[in-house]
Amino acid sequence: MATSVFFLSLFFLSHASAQFSSDPQLLFQIKEILEGKTGGGQNLLLSTWNLSFPFCEWRGIQWLNQNGTILDCQSSSLKLPSSDPVYVYSIQLSASGLTGRLPKELGSLNFLEKLYLNANSLTGGVPLELGNSLNLRFLSLGQNSLSGGLPSSMWNLCDNLVELDISENTFSGFIPSPALPNTTCSKLQRLDLGSNHLQGPVPAFISSLTGLHYLDLHNNSFSGPIPNDLALLNLTFLDLSFNNFSGPIPNFTLDFSVDGNPFLCGQAYCKETGARGKKLGMRTGILAAMVISLVAFLVFGASLSFCLHSSGKKKKKRELQDEQNEESRLILFHGGANLTVDDLLNANGVVIGKTGYGTLYKATVAGDGGTLILRLLQENTVRKPHSTFFSAIRLLGNLHHENLVPIKGCYQGERGEKLLVYGYVEGKNLAEMLHCSSMQNQLRWARRYEIALGIAHGLAFLHSDFGENIINVFHGNLKSKNVMIDEFYVPKLMDYGMSELMNPSSLTIMLSTAAEDGYCAPEASKLKKIINGRKYDVYSFGILLLEMMMGRPAGRCVSDRDEFVDLPTMVKRAVLEEKSMYIFDELVLGMEEESVLLELLQLAMGCCAPLPSVRPDMNEVIRKLEDLRPTSISSMYTSVDCRSDSEA
Ligand SMILES: *[C@@H]1O[C@H](CO)[C@@H](O)[C@H](O)[C@H]1NC(C)=O
Ligand SMILES: *[C@@H]1O[C@H](CO)[C@@H](O)[C@H](O)[C@H]1NC(C)=O
Ligand SMILES: *[C@@H]1O[C@H](CO)[C@@H](O)[C@H](O)[C@H]1NC(C)=O
Ligand SMILES: *[C@@H]1O[C@H](CO)[C@@H](O)[C@H](O)[C@H]1NC(C)=O
Repeated sequence: MATSVFFLSLFFLSHASAQFSSDPQLLFQIKEILEGKTGGGQNLLLSTWNLSFPFCEWRGIQWLNQNGTILDCQSSSLKLPSSDPVYVYSIQLSASGLTGRLPKELGSLNFLEKLYLNANSLTGGVPLELGNSLNLRFLSLGQNSLSGGLPSSMWNLCDNLVELDISENTFSGFIPSPALPNTTCSKLQRLDLGSNHLQGPVPAFISSLTGLHYLDLHNNSFSGPIPNDLALLNLTFLDLSFNNFSGPIPNFTLDFSVDGNPFLCGQAYCKETGARGKKLGMRTGILAAMVISLVAFLVFGASLSFCLHSSGKKKKKRELQDEQNEESRLILFHGGANLTVDDLLNANGVVIGKTGYGTLYKATVAGDGGTLILRLLQENTVRKPHSTFFSAIRLLGNLHHENLVPIKGCYQGERGEKLLVYGYVEGKNLAEMLHCSSMQNQLRWARRYEIALGIAHGLAFLHSDFGENIINVFHGNLKSKNVMIDEFYVPKLMDYGMSELMNPSSLTIMLSTAAEDGYCAPEASKLKKIINGRKYDVYSFGILLLEMMMGRPAGRCVSDRDEFVDLPTMVKRAVLEEKSMYIFDELVLGMEEESVLLELLQLAMGCCAPLPSVRPDMNEVIRKLEDLRPTSISSMYTSVDCRSDSEA
């Protein structure tokens, strides 16, 4: 089992002693591990990997000359050690009776492009080190007995990977997302994960593999909706059968298979769900999918360091392209005065979240530096020129409010990438607390109300005038995932002002994510930019308030009519059909007078008005909320603690 802690050496490329074992030496180690204990030198093919044989007779191996050409074995009968070094280019040991494990040494064969170990009896997991084989183009591990989770380091191979086949093993867990943002795997044509025990939703990342022709996910336990964007790929083969997908089937243009997914719409079950939905206020599987996606990010964090380390190795064929050099610098704000560059670069970090514009880490600083949240923004996502970025971050770093997670500093690396340093909030985010069944009970109405009010105060603070600003302060990305709830149930907003730190193309990505998540005001999703930041925030706040009252995730949900609608539409319908009371979460409904709840609903709907000019401002929202303060304080306290459940 891989440890999920890694050495966060983000910005300096390690020149640590790379061990220079020759490829033939590595093959001896690999041979021993591939043979397994029972093999004991008995594998006939592997017994040819032997110094007494010319290396052209080592079965299953193709070699490269030092100049990068493939060694012509017709004209070579050289034995090792030869005068010129040779490198392993391909290992082809399909159906070769291998019974051992996958050796981590495979990751040290720097010129390996093809690895075929399919149809053997290999056991154990995929070593993280395989992610160092940056030249691998064909990786076939299918039809073995490999198990365990897939390391996210496998996506480090993306620059060159053409084919990845791990079918017919017993891999389990989620499909990891790549550790680095902007990993595109644009060359990947064939992805076969069929017949494993993989589960969870299909990450959005898969739909962005634009070169993919062949996608096989059949015979696993994948769940959640089939991503609509899969239909945009140029696929010639798609097999999603025998999983547990739910929701509607995207408009695929190819012949595809979805048999054996009983919860997909268009099949008998979905109409039943609809009928049930009416009574229960239309809860559906989207919720489960969301909770899963929250947890999915917590899997492996180990691979980032590998990727950076290995790209620093001098012996790589491909040289790193020259990046424009930026001066590295560190700016510190209140609460961060003692941080040093070394603290940040040597912190132990785990990936806790990933968005289109940057990866989020929880990092422990050595000594008594404590815990921090770090957001890494790649150079190609941030606003230019850098001076504009720094003006914005200086302003944001000087904002202090009880309901904002403080920004303690900002580090710029040599390539212009930025690391934002946030204070750490012990606790969960609001999305988890609201939608993870093990935690919902902690949020009775009075508590949700206090959280809503705190969020409103945080926003109102951001919207106040800070004198002559060159940037316009607003949140720009309010959603339940960006609200941390501390141990006293005080909400703290994360990621405020990000829209002012990004370039237009990352802003577009952020807005389209917000639209998918249901928080993006209609004018912004239409124009692909934010015109009035404050009114934009008010819209997102309205959605958040609905989310808390209805106890269901924002975003487009399957309604009882099998169509996708957002929360405001759902409310409008319920009101028209005089079923308003059905839309409230049970933990809200019993706790407050109906008239008060309806006024709150009205307030939220006012915030979600399609026209920005009609929406109230945050100070009006606060005044209205204060008027609707819950009367029963006792409903705030429950003794339910399900922290341990949530770790599963
Ligand atoms: C590469 O090296 C091999 C053997 O060292 C030699 O036979 C071949 O001609 C070389 N090819 C090129 C293109 O230099
Ligand atoms: C599904 O996978 C199991 C092993 O996990 C295998 O025995 C079975 O044949 C597979 N079924 C299909 C339809 O591929
Ligand atoms: C889709 O794939 C087919 C077959 O590989 C190819 O002929 C066609 O040009 C591709 N279309 C696009 C839009 O990539
Ligand atoms: C399949 O998904 C449905 C909801 O969509 C869920 O109720 C059910 O428990 C899932 N079944 C399995 C075996 O995971």
